[in-house]
Amino acid sequence: MFRSGRLTNVWLLSFPCIFVYLYLYHEQLNTHATYKFKRGNPTIICNNNLAPMVFSSKENGTSQFHNSNIKTVATNLSLSKIPALVVKKFHNITKPRTKRVKKKFKNGTRPLLTLFTTWRESKDKYTVHNITLLNWISLRPLIVPVVFTNETSTAEQCSQKGWKVLPVRAAAAKGAPVLKYMYLDVMKQFDSKFYAFANSDILFTDKLVETLLAVLKENSTFNGHTLIVGKRTNVNNLTESEGSSWRGLESVSKKRGMLFATYAEDYFITSASYPWKDIPDIVIGRKAYDNWLVLNARRMKYRVLDATETILAVHQTTNAGNFEGQKNPDADYNMKLLVKLYKKVQYAAGYTECVELFTKKDKNKISITRRLKLEKHCNLK
Ligand SMILES: *[C@@H]1O[C@H](CO)[C@@H](O)[C@H](O)[C@H]1NC(C)=O
Ligand SMILES: *[C@@H]1O[C@H](CO)[C@@H](O)[C@H](O)[C@H]1NC(C)=O
Ligand SMILES: *[C@@H]1O[C@H](CO)[C@@H](O)[C@H](O)[C@H]1NC(C)=O
Ligand SMILES: *[C@@H]1O[C@H](CO)[C@@H](O)[C@H](O)[C@H]1NC(C)=O
Ligand SMILES: *[C@@H]1O[C@H](CO)[C@@H](O)[C@H](O)[C@H]1NC(C)=O
Ligand SMILES: *[C@@H]1O[C@H](CO)[C@@H](O)[C@H](O)[C@H]1NC(C)=O
Ligand SMILES: *[C@@H]1O[C@H](CO)[C@@H](O)[C@H](O)[C@H]1NC(C)=O
Ligand SMILES: *[C@@H]1O[C@H](CO)[C@@H](O)[C@H](O)[C@H]1NC(C)=O
Repeated sequence: MFRSGRLTNVWLLSFPCIFVYLYLYHEQLNTHATYKFKRGNPTIICNNNLAPMVFSSKENGTSQFHNSNIKTVATNLSLSKIPALVVKKFHNITKPRTKRVKKKFKNGTRPLLTLFTTWRESKDKYTVHNITLLNWISLRPLIVPVVFTNETSTAEQCSQKGWKVLPVRAAAAKGAPVLKYMYLDVMKQFDSKFYAFANSDILFTDKLVETLLAVLKENSTFNGHTLIVGKRTNVNNLTESEGSSWRGLESVSKKRGMLFATYAEDYFITSASYPWKDIPDIVIGRKAYDNWLVLNARRMKYRVLDATETILAVHQTTNAGNFEGQKNPDADYNMKLLVKLYKKVQYAAGYTECVELFTKKDKNKISITRRLKLEKHCNLK
């Protein structure tokens, strides 16, 4: 079950020869709770670059950590799945650089991803949004959920559940928020390694965290622009109970989920450097912006990754179906805008299957591979 929680103190733990900084997440009001740190219990720590990672202690901790109260995201990550990452980074922080590390840490922790969305209150979507509220909050503190809304009721409900709330700065097409200003606003307000918009009916699991950690690790020196997308898995009439845990989402997806089409992209994870200021004023919830974003990133030779194989993105399909964007008012808004700017737009080259790099998991390790062959429609003209 997901509970609302809050980020608490950062502890300095002293081991026989190392200093480890723990980044803890815990559900109660708890200012100075005592924790027992158990051998082998995976816990989130931050390295000297403040990138959060998973850590498993070889010994029982000397500081008092109460195991049952540790609600780190990492307790639900299977540590055995990413041993290389843990071991490598662990060695680095074992070096006696504590002073520097401490100084940086004091400057604040840096989450992995700021994940944002937006919606308008609607009775038909109460269940959907309530499930999303709890699902996204379950990924804290590595992931910071943000909602863009000008509705007081939505703002209150979200902030009560621990979400950050920002106003919709710009809208078009009869009320749809303009995507780029949401990115620019979260990038200004929150510090993280990645920023992503996702539709408000999309749910994630710890696989999102594992994938982003693997992307960071795969090329730790890479400092170009990165865009990560993937196909979603449609699940009809998802219940609150099915949506209330990561493992529940995995099992319902296997049982009655359907991987959706290559032409639909529902989340866009971009690096902190991504040049959102140069993106045209396309809006969400209308056709074509998704394919154009992928097409543009491919044309610009950014690093584009298809994470379908390693990120589970569950779409809560309701009676409204799987093509809601096409029924919205001014459904062709983006296409009209893009045709003005670029004359001809080759949308089919922006399908997920056209993304050259993809993530995959073998032997519990996530790696990035290049597709050997692309469909004809993917060729950039
Ligand atoms: C660590 O703690 C566990 C459970 O609390 C205990 O069974 C085990 O003996 C301890 N190990 C050491 C090396 O103290
Ligand atoms: C971690 O340690 C390895 C080997 O000692 C070194 O090559 C690498 O640059 C270090 N990474 C960081 C982030 O300090
Ligand atoms: C503190 O963090 C800010 C924002 O991430 C950064 O600009 C600044 O350089 C950092 N300061 C130190 C001392 O690391
Ligand atoms: C959650 O459900 C309740 C009714 O059960 C509703 O009043 C509320 O608006 C819903 N929250 C969201 C964010 O839709
Ligand atoms: C939302 O509210 C802000 C002020 O808080 C305002 O500047 C903005 O224009 C509003 N957005 C829309 C789409 O009405
Ligand atoms: C890793 O980053 C370097 C430097 O930016 C780049 O040349 C290389 O192609 C990248 N490799 C992958 C697999 O992205
Ligand atoms: C979802 O549930 C509604 C009843 O609440 C039902 O009418 C509809 O057929 C269901 N949809 C699917 C695809 O199962
Ligand atoms: C995390 O794992 C615990 C026990 O392993 C389980 O009870 C809990 O439901 C899981 N939480 C999530 C959010 O999946």
